[in-house]
Amino acid sequence: AGKDNSSLVEASGAGAPTQRGGSDPAWFDAIILGAGAAGLFCAAQAGAAGCRVLLIDHARRLAEKIRISGGGRCNFTNRELDTRAPQRHFISDNPNFCRSALSRFTPQHFVDLIERQGIAYHEKHKGQLFCDHRAQDIIEWLQAQCAAAGVQSWRPCTVLEIDTVTHQAQSGYGVRTSEGTAWASSLVVATGGLSIPKIGATDLGYRIARQFGVPLVAQRPGLVPLTFDAASWQPYVELAGLALPVEISVGAGRQRTAFLEDLLFTHRGLSGPAILQISNYWQAGMPLVIDLLPGQDVPALLLEAKQTSRKLLVNVLADHLPVRLAQALAGEDVLWQRAIDQVPDKALARLAERIQHWQLTPSGTEGYAKAEVTLGGVDTRALSSRSMECTQQPGLYFIGEVVDVTGWLGGYNFQWAWASAHACAEAL
Ligand code: FDA
Repeated sequence: AGKDNSSLVEASGAGAPTQRGGSDPAWFDAIILGAGAAGLFCAAQAGAAGCRVLLIDHARRLAEKIRISGGGRCNFTNRELDTRAPQRHFISDNPNFCRSALSRFTPQHFVDLIERQGIAYHEKHKGQLFCDHRAQDIIEWLQAQCAAAGVQSWRPCTVLEIDTVTHQAQSGYGVRTSEGTAWASSLVVATGGLSIPKIGATDLGYRIARQFGVPLVAQRPGLVPLTFDAASWQPYVELAGLALPVEISVGAGRQRTAFLEDLLFTHRGLSGPAILQISNYWQAGMPLVIDLLPGQDVPALLLEAKQTSRKLLVNVLADHLPVRLAQALAGEDVLWQRAIDQVPDKALARLAERIQHWQLTPSGTEGYAKAEVTLGGVDTRALSSRSMECTQQPGLYFIGEVVDVTGWLGGYNFQWAWASAHACAEAL
């Protein structure tokens, strides 16, 4: 991609370096844009290592995404992350890129830090680690680390323009903001993705990438509920609120991806962990395949019930599935509304297929308003996997969710934020 030399907004240049509200030069070793998970962690680590760091964010409240994450308890990492093959739990156009950072800064490294801090936590489902009390514990700890490391903070602060600058034989970046202009040898972009714009997500990171000719991978909402057109969803609207464990998959053969998780019916479609996980792999037009009774031999189960029972088929189904779902399924075929001993074997086989290979094609997603993450972003082929620095643009770094590395549900996205921030901080 060619460089876009126009700056972020129409302006007359980053101008002479000034301190906030004053006229003295404001040179920093690093300016970090975005005080979310990645930005705060990077600032604290770089500051502790002796860097003069300025951390800039436009939000009034600090690290809102950490605060609302994990239902307010922040699922901050995942013990099941395989440090020898971490890419298994991440999606990227360049799948092996994330290995270096994730294997050098592991979930255990983060756990050690928060244990030292006395933040109580517990393990839930599938290796997911959550705060015992509240996500705010993590925010306060990161904030205290930044303060102890002498990190300066401009917040709320609007970024107006970014330029490359040379000052007293030093080259770096000038950042003009609503609070003044600051210069630094390194600029770290930690502005996150596009999800949940109402708490401050913007495309600033992608605009900076474009400005400096750094390629992008197309973005789309990830870890997001899926929707169906109103007419095809009509039979399931009544099931809103119902949840059950399923196996869900997309793709076929070696391209098949499957998750065993809970599925949640909503008024507009499907949600719950099963859907959030599969949404990262789903592309428009692809059918989902859902097994409503995973691990069970449903054809055998129905034939056996036919030999031993005279119950209505719906009641047999209700022994294995939520009642409302059993009723909805039985309502789809007149033959399925009989007593089970009156149902032809072929009709039972059709029902078993319906239960274990339910194929349905979403019409779309709930979009960035409901997505937990953004897939795509800064193309990792333009970054060093050791440091997150742009190979063609010295001193410019991208970390966290703005980068084309997206984790599974379950703490993997925060682990990427910590690990990429750590890799960058080591290099500053
Ligand atoms: P993050 O979004 O945290 O920070 C970006 C910062 O940049 C923000 O402070 C923002 O204000 C700032 N910024 C943006 N534009 C700017 C601009 N123009 N000017 C100045 N500043 C700007 N992950 C996980 O692992 N476990 C979990 O439990 C959850 N739960 C969860 C729940 C919900 C509801 C959501 C939306 C997301 C999650 N996630 C999650 C995902 C996780 O929150 C996300 O991946 C990380 O916060 C990404 O960290 P970053 O620091 O990259 O971006």
